[in-house]
Amino acid sequence: MAEPKFAPSILSADFARLGDAVIAVERAGADWIHVDVMDGHFVPNLTFGPKMVADLHRATRLPLDVHLMIERPEEWVDRYADAGATYLTIHVEASNDVAGTLAAIRARDIRAGLTLNPETTVDALLPHLGSVDLALVMSVHPGFGGQKFIEGALDKVRAIRQVLDSRNLKAELEVDGGVKPDNAARVVAAGATVLVAGSAVFEDPDGPVAALGKFKQAIRR
Ligand code: DX5
Ligand code: ZN
Repeated sequence: MAEPKFAPSILSADFARLGDAVIAVERAGADWIHVDVMDGHFVPNLTFGPKMVADLHRATRLPLDVHLMIERPEEWVDRYADAGATYLTIHVEASNDVAGTLAAIRARDIRAGLTLNPETTVDALLPHLGSVDLALVMSVHPGFGGQKFIEGALDKVRAIRQVLDSRNLKAELEVDGGVKPDNAARVVAAGATVLVAGSAVFEDPDGPVAALGKFKQAIRR
Protein backbone atom coordinates (compact mmCIF):
# COMPACT_ATOMS: atom_id res chain seq x y z
CA MET A 1 0.00 0.00 0.00
CA ALA A 2 1.35 3.43 -0.91
CA GLU A 3 2.46 5.40 2.13
CA PRO A 4 0.03 8.28 2.74
CA LYS A 5 0.95 11.67 4.12
CA PHE A 6 0.11 12.33 7.76
CA ALA A 7 -1.41 15.65 8.74
CA PRO A 8 -1.87 15.89 12.51
CA SER A 9 -4.71 18.26 13.44
CA ILE A 10 -3.65 20.70 16.13
CA LEU A 11 -7.30 21.03 17.18
CA SER A 12 -6.56 18.34 19.78
CA ALA A 13 -3.28 19.89 20.94
CA ASP A 14 -2.86 22.17 23.95
CA PHE A 15 -3.60 25.64 22.53
CA ALA A 16 -1.40 27.17 25.24
CA ARG A 17 1.55 25.21 23.84
CA LEU A 18 0.83 25.04 20.12
CA GLY A 19 4.38 25.85 19.00
CA ASP A 20 5.74 22.93 21.02
CA ALA A 21 3.01 20.64 19.67
CA VAL A 22 3.90 21.49 16.09
CA ILE A 23 7.61 20.96 16.70
CA ALA A 24 6.86 17.61 18.37
CA VAL A 25 4.88 16.24 15.42
CA GLU A 26 7.39 17.65 12.94
CA ARG A 27 10.11 15.66 14.75
CA ALA A 28 7.80 12.64 14.89
CA GLY A 29 7.62 12.54 11.10
CA ALA A 30 4.42 14.40 10.27
CA ASP A 31 4.16 15.55 6.66
CA TRP A 32 1.77 18.48 7.04
CA ILE A 33 0.14 20.40 9.89
CA HIS A 34 -3.67 20.43 9.67
CA VAL A 35 -5.03 23.73 10.95
CA ASP A 36 -8.77 23.83 11.75
CA VAL A 37 -10.22 27.32 11.48
CA MET A 38 -13.76 27.59 12.93
CA ASP A 39 -15.94 30.69 13.08
CA GLY A 40 -18.72 29.70 15.49
CA HIS A 41 -21.27 30.06 12.64
CA PHE A 42 -20.51 27.48 9.97
CA VAL A 43 -19.73 25.08 12.83
CA PRO A 44 -20.72 25.33 16.49
CA ASN A 45 -17.16 25.90 17.69
CA LEU A 46 -14.57 28.64 17.51
CA THR A 47 -10.80 28.32 17.16
CA PHE A 48 -8.47 30.95 15.70
CA GLY A 49 -7.78 33.05 12.64
CA PRO A 50 -5.04 34.18 10.26
CA LYS A 51 -2.63 35.36 12.97
CA MET A 52 -2.37 31.81 14.27
CA VAL A 53 -1.53 30.60 10.76
CA ALA A 54 1.14 33.31 10.44
CA ASP A 55 2.64 32.37 13.81
CA LEU A 56 2.62 28.65 12.96
CA HIS A 57 4.25 29.47 9.64
CA ARG A 58 7.20 30.84 11.57
CA ALA A 59 7.26 27.88 13.96
CA THR A 60 7.49 25.04 11.43
CA ARG A 61 8.82 24.24 7.99
CA LEU A 62 5.98 21.80 7.34
CA PRO A 63 3.22 22.73 4.88
CA LEU A 64 0.19 24.27 6.60
CA ASP A 65 -3.02 22.53 5.56
CA VAL A 66 -5.62 25.12 6.50
CA HIS A 67 -9.19 23.80 6.75
CA LEU A 68 -11.63 26.71 6.78
CA MET A 69 -14.88 25.86 8.56
CA ILE A 70 -16.18 29.38 8.11
CA GLU A 71 -18.99 31.12 6.28
CA ARG A 72 -18.10 33.30 3.28
CA PRO A 73 -14.54 31.95 2.90
CA GLU A 74 -14.13 34.13 -0.21
CA GLU A 75 -13.72 37.15 2.08
CA TRP A 76 -10.72 35.57 3.83
CA VAL A 77 -8.57 34.17 1.00
CA ASP A 78 -6.04 37.00 0.96
CA ARG A 79 -5.54 37.01 4.71
CA TYR A 80 -4.82 33.27 4.86
CA ALA A 81 -2.60 33.46 1.79
CA ASP A 82 -0.65 36.33 3.38
CA ALA A 83 -0.39 34.30 6.59
CA GLY A 84 1.42 31.46 4.83
CA ALA A 85 -1.20 28.78 4.21
CA THR A 86 0.12 26.09 1.85
CA TYR A 87 -3.29 24.54 1.19
CA LEU A 88 -6.46 26.52 1.76
CA THR A 89 -9.54 24.32 1.87
CA ILE A 90 -13.10 25.66 1.79
CA HIS A 91 -16.41 23.91 2.35
CA VAL A 92 -18.66 23.51 -0.67
CA GLU A 93 -21.61 24.35 1.64
CA ALA A 94 -20.06 27.61 2.85
CA SER A 95 -19.77 29.72 -0.28
CA ASN A 96 -22.14 30.97 -2.96
CA ASP A 97 -19.22 31.11 -5.37
CA VAL A 98 -17.17 27.96 -4.93
CA ALA A 99 -15.52 28.16 -8.37
CA GLY A 100 -14.61 31.82 -7.92
CA THR A 101 -13.16 31.20 -4.46
CA LEU A 102 -11.05 28.28 -5.66
CA ALA A 103 -9.78 30.44 -8.51
CA ALA A 104 -8.99 33.27 -6.07
CA ILE A 105 -6.97 30.86 -3.91
CA ARG A 106 -4.97 29.61 -6.88
CA ALA A 107 -4.46 33.16 -8.11
CA ARG A 108 -2.53 33.73 -4.87
CA ASP A 109 -0.19 30.87 -5.85
CA ILE A 110 -1.30 28.60 -3.05
CA ARG A 111 -3.09 25.29 -3.31
CA ALA A 112 -6.84 25.12 -3.30
CA GLY A 113 -8.83 22.49 -1.44
CA LEU A 114 -12.53 21.69 -1.41
CA THR A 115 -14.40 19.68 1.19
CA LEU A 116 -17.90 18.50 1.95
CA ASN A 117 -19.86 17.68 5.07
CA PRO A 118 -20.95 14.09 5.77
CA GLU A 119 -24.52 14.82 4.59
CA THR A 120 -23.39 16.41 1.32
CA THR A 121 -23.13 14.08 -1.66
CA VAL A 122 -20.04 13.89 -3.85
CA ASP A 123 -22.05 15.39 -6.73
CA ALA A 124 -21.44 18.79 -5.14
CA LEU A 125 -17.70 18.31 -5.38
CA LEU A 126 -17.24 16.52 -8.70
CA PRO A 127 -17.72 19.56 -10.98
CA HIS A 128 -14.81 21.28 -9.19
CA LEU A 129 -12.37 18.35 -9.14
CA GLY A 130 -10.41 19.69 -12.08
CA SER A 131 -9.89 23.00 -10.25
CA VAL A 132 -8.56 21.75 -6.92
CA ASP A 133 -5.24 20.56 -5.57
CA LEU A 134 -6.92 18.72 -2.72
CA ALA A 135 -10.28 17.07 -2.15
CA LEU A 136 -11.17 16.53 1.50
CA VAL A 137 -13.76 14.02 2.66
CA MET A 138 -15.13 14.78 6.13
CA SER A 139 -15.64 11.59 8.08
CA VAL A 140 -17.22 13.35 11.07
CA HIS A 141 -19.54 16.34 11.39
CA PRO A 142 -17.08 19.22 11.51
CA GLY A 143 -16.65 21.21 14.68
CA PHE A 144 -15.01 18.93 17.21
CA GLY A 145 -12.19 16.45 17.53
CA GLY A 146 -12.59 13.02 19.06
CA GLN A 147 -15.74 11.92 17.20
CA LYS A 148 -16.44 8.51 15.74
CA PHE A 149 -15.49 7.81 12.12
CA ILE A 150 -18.52 7.76 9.76
CA GLU A 151 -18.10 4.63 7.63
CA GLY A 152 -20.08 6.08 4.72
CA ALA A 153 -17.13 8.40 4.08
CA LEU A 154 -15.25 5.47 2.55
CA ASP A 155 -17.75 5.22 -0.33
CA LYS A 156 -17.16 8.90 -1.05
CA VAL A 157 -13.40 8.39 -1.02
CA ARG A 158 -13.73 5.51 -3.48
CA ALA A 159 -16.05 7.52 -5.75
CA ILE A 160 -13.70 10.52 -5.80
CA ARG A 161 -10.65 8.29 -6.32
CA GLN A 162 -12.32 6.74 -9.35
CA VAL A 163 -13.05 10.11 -10.92
CA LEU A 164 -9.57 11.46 -10.17
CA ASP A 165 -7.94 8.42 -11.75
CA SER A 166 -10.26 8.24 -14.74
CA ARG A 167 -9.56 11.90 -15.51
CA ASN A 168 -5.85 11.54 -14.68
CA LEU A 169 -6.14 14.26 -12.02
CA LYS A 170 -3.37 14.42 -9.42
CA ALA A 171 -5.20 16.19 -6.57
CA GLU A 172 -4.53 14.93 -3.08
CA LEU A 173 -7.43 13.03 -1.51
CA GLU A 174 -7.61 13.68 2.22
CA VAL A 175 -9.82 12.23 4.95
CA ASP A 176 -10.55 14.10 8.18
CA GLY A 177 -12.32 12.95 11.33
CA GLY A 178 -12.13 9.87 13.51
CA VAL A 179 -9.09 8.51 11.67
CA LYS A 180 -7.22 6.09 13.95
CA PRO A 181 -4.59 3.39 13.49
CA ASP A 182 -7.37 0.78 13.40
CA ASN A 183 -9.14 2.29 10.35
CA ALA A 184 -6.21 4.00 8.62
CA ALA A 185 -5.44 1.07 6.32
CA ARG A 186 -9.05 0.99 5.07
CA VAL A 187 -9.00 4.72 4.43
CA VAL A 188 -5.81 4.40 2.37
CA ALA A 189 -7.13 1.33 0.55
CA ALA A 190 -10.19 3.38 -0.46
CA GLY A 191 -7.87 5.83 -2.20
CA ALA A 192 -6.86 8.50 0.30
CA THR A 193 -3.39 10.05 0.02
CA VAL A 194 -3.52 12.22 3.16
CA LEU A 195 -4.76 11.26 6.62
CA VAL A 196 -5.76 13.89 9.17
CA ALA A 197 -5.69 12.78 12.79
CA GLY A 198 -6.16 14.97 15.85
CA SER A 199 -7.07 13.06 18.98
CA ALA A 200 -5.27 9.91 17.83
CA VAL A 201 -2.01 11.89 17.71
CA PHE A 202 -2.27 14.46 20.48
CA GLU A 203 -4.23 12.42 23.00
CA ASP A 204 -2.18 9.25 22.67
CA PRO A 205 -0.76 8.68 26.17
CA ASP A 206 2.44 7.38 24.58
CA GLY A 207 3.03 10.71 22.82
CA PRO A 208 3.03 11.84 19.18
CA VAL A 209 6.11 9.87 18.08
CA ALA A 210 4.52 6.62 19.21
CA ALA A 211 1.16 7.68 17.78
CA LEU A 212 2.56 8.28 14.30
CA GLY A 213 4.46 5.01 14.58
CA LYS A 214 1.17 3.19 15.24
CA PHE A 215 -0.33 4.70 12.08
CA LYS A 216 2.67 3.79 9.94
CA GLN A 217 2.71 0.24 11.29
CA ALA A 218 -1.04 -0.16 10.69
CA ILE A 219 -0.67 0.86 7.06
CA ARG A 220 2.37 -1.29 6.34
CA ARG A 221 0.69 -4.41 7.69
C1 DX5 B 1 -13.19 18.45 12.81
C2 DX5 B 1 -11.83 18.81 12.29
C3 DX5 B 1 -10.85 17.72 12.34
C4 DX5 B 1 -10.57 17.20 13.74
C5 DX5 B 1 -10.18 15.77 13.65
O1 DX5 B 1 -14.03 19.52 12.59
O2 DX5 B 1 -11.92 19.22 10.94
O3 DX5 B 1 -9.64 18.11 11.72
O4 DX5 B 1 -9.57 17.90 14.41
O5 DX5 B 1 -10.05 15.29 14.95
P1 DX5 B 1 -10.09 13.73 15.24
O6 DX5 B 1 -8.93 13.11 14.52
O7 DX5 B 1 -9.94 13.66 16.72
O8 DX5 B 1 -11.40 13.23 14.74
ZN1 ZN C 1 -10.06 19.52 9.77
